[in-house]
Amino acid sequence: MPVSIVVGLQWGDEGKGKMVDHLAEKAVAVARFSGGANAGHTVEAEGRKFALHLLPSGIVRPGVKAMVGASCVLDPGAFLEEIETLEKNGITAGDRLLVSGKVNLTHPAYKLLEKQSEDSRVTGRIGTTGRGIGPTYERKCRRNAIRLEDALNPVLLRELADFHTADAQKELNLTDGQRETLLSDTDRFMEDAVRVTGYCADVSRVIGKMLEAGERVIAEGAQGSLLDPDHGSYPFVTCGQCVSGAACTGLGFGPTSVDRVQGILKAYTTRVGEGPFPTEQKGETGHRIRTAGNEFGTTTGRPRRCGWLDGVLAEYTTRLNGCTSVTVTLLDVLSGFETLKVCTGYLDGDFKTGRGMGELLPVYETLPGWSEDIRGEKNWKALPQNAKNYIEMIEKLMKVPVDSVSTGPGREDVIWR
Ligand code: IMP
Repeated sequence: MPVSIVVGLQWGDEGKGKMVDHLAEKAVAVARFSGGANAGHTVEAEGRKFALHLLPSGIVRPGVKAMVGASCVLDPGAFLEEIETLEKNGITAGDRLLVSGKVNLTHPAYKLLEKQSEDSRVTGRIGTTGRGIGPTYERKCRRNAIRLEDALNPVLLRELADFHTADAQKELNLTDGQRETLLSDTDRFMEDAVRVTGYCADVSRVIGKMLEAGERVIAEGAQGSLLDPDHGSYPFVTCGQCVSGAACTGLGFGPTSVDRVQGILKAYTTRVGEGPFPTEQKGETGHRIRTAGNEFGTTTGRPRRCGWLDGVLAEYTTRLNGCTSVTVTLLDVLSGFETLKVCTGYLDGDFKTGRGMGELLPVYETLPGWSEDIRGEKNWKALPQNAKNYIEMIEKLMKVPVDSVSTGPGREDVIWR
């Protein structure tokens, strides 16, 4: 059996973690192909709630291997802390967890550099998660980053870590106390990096062997397609690639291994951080969605900006990813709205994703809502007709089948049509 890729179709937080966990029942492995500890994937299983950041969502399924691919970035301290938290909750990573030696490591100075760069941007703050993601990917492109495999060589690790501490100090105006802290954080970073090498593996080869044996692997994306640095709302994007094509380069397999691209689309839209959001609702509607959907960041706790579903963007991102099918998530959050709006076009024509996106004025179609509580529903036929109509309208806009609907946070709260 080949690879299923799972990607987010909006600005992240679409519920990918929950769906990856659900799909992992039939897989041998889940492999993260992008991003780092900026992600916040929430999984609820066996009455417990897990907030994952860098660890693949498959880690909470006993027996499933969890892998972190080459194009991810990894903060060693945050990674070890996440493992520890899981262990306290009865989930042991052990030899199920494998990390590519090619991942780039987040040096402690990068978070300081990121903060400084956020405060001095010509085009305004991005509102990053503050996890040092941007500077880590920048060093990768500069070709002087620290890879996990470098930590296997203590002399090289020391040399690289010291270089980045010194290099960052040229840009940072640190007090003596801050410099001392950075030096001790650098030592700690090195110790943690060495500990993480215990998980180091050739992820591409391991996946290749699984595929050869006819087993199913899930490639788990992070963030959402509209945060992709090439195809998203640039410059208000992340640095790891978020679209399905990146699964192949990020994990090290060819496109011929993929037979399914599952897009995950929230029934409305949310965004964290700065940047354009054409269907944002700043008043009562946004507040109501935020409260009903508990729309607060898993990583930073920031309130998410909320708004109506954007059908034009959904069509764009399903095409961009080549989705074979889509899961609509959090449909239960919309119960009780008398009417629902879906953006079906923009005034003044063309759709833009880059700097021009902020000028888009959405044109809406209004649909009748439903009052029934559908949380936890597992049967398509039992859905109120207006909920079915809502899904069918989204499907028509995207031109891709919605094969599943998530109706609650629990592992089993999914309708398969
Ligand atoms: P960074 O990834 O921390 O550099 O942040 C860049 C942008 O991506 C900011 O707007 C963040 O709020 C956003 N972002 C990063 N990770 C996530 C996520 O997992 N969910 C939603 N937004 C995210």
